[in-house]
This record gives sequence, C-alpha cells and structure tokens, in this order.
Amino acid sequence: MQGSMLVHRGGEALMVAMMPERDARPAAHRCAGACARAARRGRANRWHACAGLPTDILAAPASEGTSMTEQHPTDSAAPAIAIATALAARSLGKRVKLPDGELVILDGVDFSVERGESVAVVGPSGSGKSTLLSLLAGLDVPSSGAVTIDGAPLSTLDEDGRARVRAARVGFVFQNFQLLPSLTALENVMLPLELRGDADAEGPARAILARVGLGERLGHYPRQLSGGEQQRVAVARAFVTGPSLLFADEPTGNLDTATGQAIIELLFALNQDAGTTLVLVTHDEHLAGRCRRTLRIEGGRLVADTRPAT
Ligand SMILES: Nc1ncnc2c1ncn2[C@@H]1O[C@H](COP(=O)(O)OP(=O)(O)OP(=O)(O)O)[C@@H](O)[C@H]1O
Ligand SMILES: [Mg+2]
Repeated sequence: MQGSMLVHRGGEALMVAMMPERDARPAAHRCAGACARAARRGRANRWHACAGLPTDILAAPASEGTSMTEQHPTDSAAPAIAIATALAARSLGKRVKLPDGELVILDGVDFSVERGESVAVVGPSGSGKSTLLSLLAGLDVPSSGAVTIDGAPLSTLDEDGRARVRAARVGFVFQNFQLLPSLTALENVMLPLELRGDADAEGPARAILARVGLGERLGHYPRQLSGGEQQRVAVARAFVTGPSLLFADEPTGNLDTATGQAIIELLFALNQDAGTTLVLVTHDEHLAGRCRRTLRIEGGRLVADTRPAT
C-alpha cells in the first residue's frame, strides 16, 4: 500500500503515490509546509513537489537554509578522524507497537562508514536491512540511538533539517523504486534537479538515462517500463544530483546479469570518480563482493562486519 504526495506541475496539482502507508503523513500537511515556504521565497520552479519524505530526498533548493558547513562546524573544523567519517550509527534501534505487543526490528546497531567506502548490507529477508537503510538516510526516525551523516546528527534536526541534509548529500534507490507514476522517465530524473533550482535539468537527466541504457525510453511512464527499466530510472534519479552518500536497496534485484553488471559498474565508477560513499543492501553476491566491506544483519542485529582481504 502506498502513501501519497502532491506534485505541482505548473498550475496542475498531481496526487501521486510515493511512500509505504506506514511512513506517509497527511499530504495536506506536507503541502501546506513546503508550498508555503516556496511561495514565501517567491520561487517559480516549473515543478514544485511537496512531501516530507522522498521528495526532499529528491532535492531541496540549494539556497534554502543554512549550509552544512555553517550548521555543522565539524565539517570544516573537526579533527581528521571525524572528517573521514561519512556515516555513523550509534546503538540504533527500531521498535514498532503492534496490537499483540512490540516488534523489535533493529536492536543496538553500531558502526561507522568512512568517506568513499563501499559497504554491502546483507542478511535474510525480514532481518531489518531496508529499515536500517531508511534510518541511515534519515527517511525514518529511530526508536533509540542516533545517526550522523557527515557530522550532522540527524536526531537533533527537525524534518526540514533532515531534508536539507538529504538534499545536499544523499541519493537513495528504493527497493520498490518509488517513481512518480504521473511523470515520464525523463521527468522523474529531472525532478531532483528542478527542485533544487538547476537551470539545466534536462541535459544531465538525458545523459544519465543514456548511461543506464534508457536513452530510448525517455518519454515512457513508469507503468510502460519493465521492472528492470524502472529500477534503472530509480538509479538514474539517485545519481543525477551527484550525492556524496548513495544508499541503494537491492539496486540489481530486478535486473538480468548483463544489466545488473552495468549498474554495478556505474555505482563503482561514482564511488571511484567522485569519492561517493556507497551503502548497498543486496542479496547479489557479485555486488557484495565488489564492496570493500560487508555488514551482516540477522534478526535486527549487526552480527558481522567483514572486509575481504585485498
Ligand atoms: N512499520 C512496520 N510495522 C510492522 N512491522 C514492520 C514495519 N517495518 C518493518 N517491519 C517488519 O520488520 C522486519 C524487517 O523489515 P525490513 O523491510 O527492514 O526487512 P529486509 O531485511 O529489508 O527484508 P527483505 O530482504 O525481504 O527486503 C520485517 O519482518 C517487517 O515485516
Ligand atoms: Mg528490504
């Protein structure tokens, strides 16, 4: 079941499905907040999307709010060890209340990821991998513990603050893609650039879609794309802003071997060329084997943290 969000395209308001219902907040609330702020700024984006969750992972205007350097002096003033840490989870826990009691999804997860590292998160189905990724990206709030992205402690930020961190630094490929069904492949990939006010969204969006092999599918809507093609659009959308931290939940899960290999090469090209930190949930042994490090989650706990000998 999907939640919904409002996307305003010119004068047209589109209600579109975005997040699982459990994560969704009332669309009207989000719309009032984000639209009101946009109106106050007098911004005239061709697209304006309002959502508490995935839209701000798609991008917030770069001019909005304080820069990360100002907000988090650790970025520029902290000792080298802190600067090298892209991501840290401290005693991270997630519990949900169910009619028949409390379900512990994650319990006491602790680790740090250095900038430029590539980390595979593996484990059985239902072990908590997607939940962990959502917490790490600030898309969900932990029940206990804390997440720090590039020195920014997410737990001390409100939703707008987390949105700014995500918009400035994070790309996210959802396990179920979360493409906007009313937008074409090209428009889905342009959206994060449009939202942050880039003058040219179309050029980079076309280029990245060509790079994932979808140069001939630009005008297709998600329903007109295969699962693997939708996945590639989702990867392109996460890449297009050049994030410093890329989270991907089963990025090769729906792809044939050759296409999966092409996506893997793209991920690691970004990792090497731009120093992007990769955190990838995967059941794909080949993909996990390419990562410098593997975190194994079982029953909501981190049970192994291994670095294959090089
Ligand atoms: N909001 C929620 N309410 C109830 N249960 C939840 C909620 N979120 C997650 N769960 C449960 O927590 C467990 C972990 O879910 P999660 O999606 O993180 O698993 P996963 O490791 O990603 O699995 P898969 O490999 O199948 O994608 C599952 O048993 C799931 O049903
Ligand atoms: Mg999952």
